[in-house]
Order: sequence, then structure tokens, then C-alpha cells
Amino acid sequence: MGHHGEMVRVSSGPLSVEELLREYAVGPGPSVRANFVTTLDGHATGGDGLSGSINSAADKQVFDVLRALADVVVVGAGTIRAEGYGRLRTEDAGLLAVRRAAGRSDHPVLAVVTASGDLPEKVVSPEDGAGDLLVLCAEAVRADLADRLGADAVVPCGTDVVEATRALDALRDRGLTQVLTEGGPHLLGSWLQAGVVDELCLTLRPVLVGGTGPRIVEAAAGADALARFDLLHALEVEGDLMLRYGRTETS
Ligand SMILES: NC(=O)c1ccc[n+]([C@@H]2O[C@H](COP(=O)([O-])OP(=O)(O)OC[C@H]3O[C@@H](n4cnc5c(N)ncnc54)[C@H](OP(=O)(O)O)[C@@H]3O)[C@@H](O)[C@H]2O)c1
Repeated sequence: MGHHGEMVRVSSGPLSVEELLREYAVGPGPSVRANFVTTLDGHATGGDGLSGSINSAADKQVFDVLRALADVVVVGAGTIRAEGYGRLRTEDAGLLAVRRAAGRSDHPVLAVVTASGDLPEKVVSPEDGAGDLLVLCAEAVRADLADRLGADAVVPCGTDVVEATRALDALRDRGLTQVLTEGGPHLLGSWLQAGVVDELCLTLRPVLVGGTGPRIVEAAAGADALARFDLLHALEVEGDLMLRYGRTETS
């Protein structure tokens, strides 16, 4: 039983894309979800400092389904630089059809969060047939970014940092209501502190990597928990657990 007495769905074995789309469906209203992968010893990266080295085929399938259900994918500039992000593209024909049937653009918009304005050329340069770019930035770097990208692609959301509520309001003003963030840990920390994360989708990989790499949240610890979540489902595929959590509603 889940926290409020609802059944928590637990399944074992591979699921079809159709089943995953159902498992991760969200309602029509605005939603903010985060998708991360972690090892059994709590690391968000492998020894190479990247999350690609700790993910798996089952995790990738969920990653793709979550993108297909999103209007916009929000990513911190640290992750953009580390993981070499370019514009987003829906490669899979089935997922493209799902987006079209839902009235979404073919590809999710990529929204990059940055205070410094330090964005690699790979993400700045438009790619034929790929999704649009929005930059959610601090005021000081707005003018430089607007010169580089055009004023429409640049949204100032705070003086020194990007305030989560301003960023989400700006996305909703543009009709981007189903929001997915793929990290990284500093961005997730600031969004948890702002209380804006409705859901956490977490893949738990059965490996231990050691070392001192980041965990999924980089934020100062306080006396109280940063956030509390209820388990919505647990899907097991070849030892990986794909866990979906919803923020605990406090009454
Ligand atoms: N396991 C996973 O699922 C997962 C997911 C994502 C990333 N990662 C890993 O995490 C590592 C990167 O960690 P990270 O914490 O540096 O990632 P991050 O949160 O993506 O990057 C931090 C940077 O993003 C910008 N940023 C984030 N929040 C901001 C805010 N509220 N206001 C203004 N700017 C903000 C800033 O960019 P500027 O410096 O440009 O100002 C900041 O320096 C990489 O090794 C990556 O592989 C793992």
C-alpha cells in the first residue's frame, strides 16, 4: 500500500513502450518531474564522471518515454557541458507518433539553466529538424546571450541565480506545461528547495562504484528533509529498479 492507501504497482520483467507510457502518464495540468539514475552506493556518475557509464537499456527506455511525455526538458548548464548535450530530437517513430497524437511538437524544447552564460557551441548552434533551445539565465548574462541566440530564446529568471518559480512561470507562459528535468544535482537541489518538484523518477542500478562523485542532489542539508515522496510504482527489469515517486502532500 502507498502512503495514502492506494496500491503501489510493482512489476517484474520488461515492459512494452505502451505499458511504460501508461505507467508514466501524467494528468492534463502542469507538472514538474525529475529523472535521475543512481547506483546502490548513491552515486550519480560512474568513475568517468558521467551518468552514461551507470545507465542501462531499461533505464534508457524510461528516459526516452519520459522525454516523449514532456513539452520541455530543463537541464543545468553543468550537465550540458559535462554530458555534451545538443538539441533534442525524437528519434523513435512510435514515440514521435505519441507526441503528435498528444498535440505536442515533434521534439521537446531544451531549456538550459545558467548563471554564467557559458554554453558550448554544440547546444547553441541550431540543428536541422531538432527541437528549439531556451536559455533560462541570470540577468547579468542576458544581453550577451541574446546577441548569440536571439532575444526570444533568452529568459532572465533572477538577479544572480535562476529562480525556479520564475523559470517555470516563463515556460508555462510559452505553453510548456509538462516539464521534465534531467538534472543535474545542483539544479535538482535548487528546485527541491523551491518546492516545485512534483515527481521524482529514479532508476536504481545494482552496482557500487565508490569514489567521491556527485549524488543526485547537491544542496545544503537542513534540519528538515529537503522533500518527501511517496512511492507510486516500482518496475524491475534485469535487477534495475525504475521507481516513480510523487511528492508527499502535506495537509
Ligand atoms: N545521475 C544522473 O541522473 C545525472 C543527471 C544529470 C547530471 N548528472 C551528473 O552530474 C554532474 C553535473 O553536476 P552539476 O550539479 O554541476 O549539474 P547541474 O546542476 O546541471 O549544473 C550546475 C550548473 O548549472 C547551472 N545551474 C543549476 N542550477 C542553477 C540555478 N538555480 N541558477 C543558476 N544556474 C544554475 C549553473 O551553470 P553555470 O555554471 O553556467 O552558471 C551551475 O553551475 C555531471 O557529472 C553529470 O554527469 C547525473
